[in-house]
Amino acid sequence: MADKAILEYQGKRYELPVVKGTEDELAIDIKSLRANTGLITLDPGYKNTGSCSSSITFLDGEKGVLRYRGYSIEELTVKAEFLEVAYLLIFGELPNKDQLQRFHGDIKQESHVDEEMKKILDGFPKSAHPMGVLSSLTSALIAFNPSSVDVRSEEAMYNTIVRILAKFPVLVAWAMRKRQGLPLDYGDDNLGYVENLHKMMFKRPNKEYQLNKIVIDALDQLLILHADHEQNCSTSTVRITGSSHAGLFVSLSAGISALWGPLHGGANQAVLEMLEAIHEDGGDTDKYMAKAKDKDDPFRLMGFGHRVYKNFDPRARIIKKAADEVLNDLGITDPILDIAKGLEKVALEDPYFVERKLYPNVDFYSGIIYRALGIPVEMFTVMFAMGRLPGWIAQWREMRLNKEPIGRPRQLYIGANDRPFVPLKKR
Ligand code: ACO
Repeated sequence: MADKAILEYQGKRYELPVVKGTEDELAIDIKSLRANTGLITLDPGYKNTGSCSSSITFLDGEKGVLRYRGYSIEELTVKAEFLEVAYLLIFGELPNKDQLQRFHGDIKQESHVDEEMKKILDGFPKSAHPMGVLSSLTSALIAFNPSSVDVRSEEAMYNTIVRILAKFPVLVAWAMRKRQGLPLDYGDDNLGYVENLHKMMFKRPNKEYQLNKIVIDALDQLLILHADHEQNCSTSTVRITGSSHAGLFVSLSAGISALWGPLHGGANQAVLEMLEAIHEDGGDTDKYMAKAKDKDDPFRLMGFGHRVYKNFDPRARIIKKAADEVLNDLGITDPILDIAKGLEKVALEDPYFVERKLYPNVDFYSGIIYRALGIPVEMFTVMFAMGRLPGWIAQWREMRLNKEPIGRPRQLYIGANDRPFVPLKKR
């Protein structure tokens, strides 16, 4: 214990323990606040509220630091593969060769999806957004794997984790192929995890699939960059859904829904749509900057600002470099990238953005790479979900192993007081 905070209320003094994290972060422990004082805390958007203690991801928004289990994102993106990072996040340590092989082998054993699932997918219109499709299919998986709800033992938990890591890429690929009218295929167990995902997404009938290392490496890096980000909106949703012991698959399905919104994972799609709109409108970035600053205009500069990063988003730095490299390697010149760079330059110097500490976030550049990789814009947030899968799993597992209580916030009621019912004819 680091210290104590004193709360004075109605002439009484209350001592509240101050607890310290391993990176010297401090928190006032208010577990006994209501019982001792009758008070609750009010913190809309949870800007000051820690919902749990976690040993998975550390981020320092002021310094722009992001580490998974102590390893920096800068190192992991160049030295590790996505599946290694998934193992690290979920189980706490980097796997050795045998552990990784076994993990991948177990995943391959589960890499089929029940054919009946295709009937569910069939029920969706072709125009359905793939995030909605993915969320529904992830939830539907439970009907075909009912044992995945019961995760009381570590073994059952492991089997459930392996199962979803195996089947999720198939669902991602199906969500995309359905929209494109392509046959629904399965993967190739001879390939690496990310190669297999890419092949499932892009294999055309009657054509041999060509593996491109630049593309696979870029995709691997993007997935790692998105793999976890502590207690964000979708992760908190996964944890809170799972806290009712509803099961992993439905908790993930809830997380996918939360990620979909344009203020969260949906921002990558919104960024590209915004850049395309600016391009079609003649490329006048000043006009859109003015709209973003106008309080009477609901327009926001998508891909700018972050709840916790207030100096820079380390993921955005890595991804910006990667975007340049990928476009260069693939020989792509994209006018959208020029618009993005123009907007970034203006925003970084504009007092409105500087004063509010609004910097490009990970989504500002990810869409440009996805586009270069031939991924359709409505799949961008699905790719984010694919990357975030191990983080969600790790957070869910931690929550269950810590035996955390059901998540149930309080509220400050500000509605009408007790009043007599008014019959319909008198209203
Ligand atoms: N464009 C213009 N103004 C902005 C923007 C933006 N993108 N973001 C924040 N602001 C302004 C707000 O209007 C507010 O101004 P005010 O103080 O004059 O009222 C101030 O900056 C603070 O903004 P908040 O909304 O209070 O910041 P918050 O931390 O709640 O929101 C968020 C963060 C949601 C990311 C916000 O910056 C935003 O909407 N950005 C655009 C969407 C986006 O890119 N989301 C992706 C986030 S990253 C991720 O999920 C992976």
